[in-house]
Amino acid sequence: MAVETVFLNGEFVKRSDAKVDIEDRGYQFGDGIYEVIRVYSGEVFTMDEHMERLYQSADKMKLKIPFDLQELSSIVCKLIEKNDVEEGIVYMQVSRGISPRQHHFPGGDISGSVIAYTKDFKRPSKQMNEGVTATLVEDIRWLRCDIKSLNLLGNILAKEEAASKGHFEAIQHRGETVTEGSSSNVFIVKDGSIYTHPATNLILNGITRRVIKDIAAKSGVPFVEKTFTVDELLAAEEMFIASTTSEVMPVIKVDEVNIGQGVPGPVTVKLQEMFTGRILTECKVQQV
Ligand code: PDD
Repeated sequence: MAVETVFLNGEFVKRSDAKVDIEDRGYQFGDGIYEVIRVYSGEVFTMDEHMERLYQSADKMKLKIPFDLQELSSIVCKLIEKNDVEEGIVYMQVSRGISPRQHHFPGGDISGSVIAYTKDFKRPSKQMNEGVTATLVEDIRWLRCDIKSLNLLGNILAKEEAASKGHFEAIQHRGETVTEGSSSNVFIVKDGSIYTHPATNLILNGITRRVIKDIAAKSGVPFVEKTFTVDELLAAEEMFIASTTSEVMPVIKVDEVNIGQGVPGPVTVKLQEMFTGRILTECKVQQV
């Protein structure tokens, strides 16, 4: 790879030249938002959906993005080209800008800071074929999980608990109700239907979740946006999680309990195939 280029406040610069001010509110408060966007075969997958969600997150926290949607999309494409990304991700972050530390908004004409970089990342084929394990953790996060905010401490503590026990993901629950993973949405299959938490303030409305909803409708599998309990999850026929980097990822065991037969189930495998089909039509990717 050539010298890595990143985007920093209007300019493409070498990564080693990209410096962030210590009074950037993203750095001091986590006062900002982000998106992780997937690149397959050098092409962006579900760009518009990610960009629209970024602007929705910005609206919800009264943050002004100093570029319009078309400009940001073209920045993403240029970055992919400059870094010659084949299989990877683009990380894009917008903070409320730089100002002397005070909790309330800085006011005036302070412009948001925008950064973006790319990372090579292969499809997690082995894990998608074999399935992964997860652990249950109490959801201790705030009540605006619909905003893709930089404040990820609750998610990080949850993921660390999973990782320290050798699990791929932490499945969060508020009391008896399963919400979502630390960095993914959670789905179960029960009586042949897919169940997932409704897109309320308690979860992030994942872009992958939306693609799954669409392909489920096309394949005639009922997609039910209704909460389910921890007990229902443990008794499910199948379970999977979904995100930009994990795609449709089977979960075969939660703590000590096998889910279904303890192998990726038929509905999950069918969704994986259809998801790959969707990538192929959008990005002309190689089949796993
Ligand atoms: N995480 N829920 C949470 C809490 C997430 O952090 C994510 C994604 C998702 C799935 O969203 P999507 O399908 O749009 O990726 C659900 C990203 C990948 C991350 O933080 O790295």
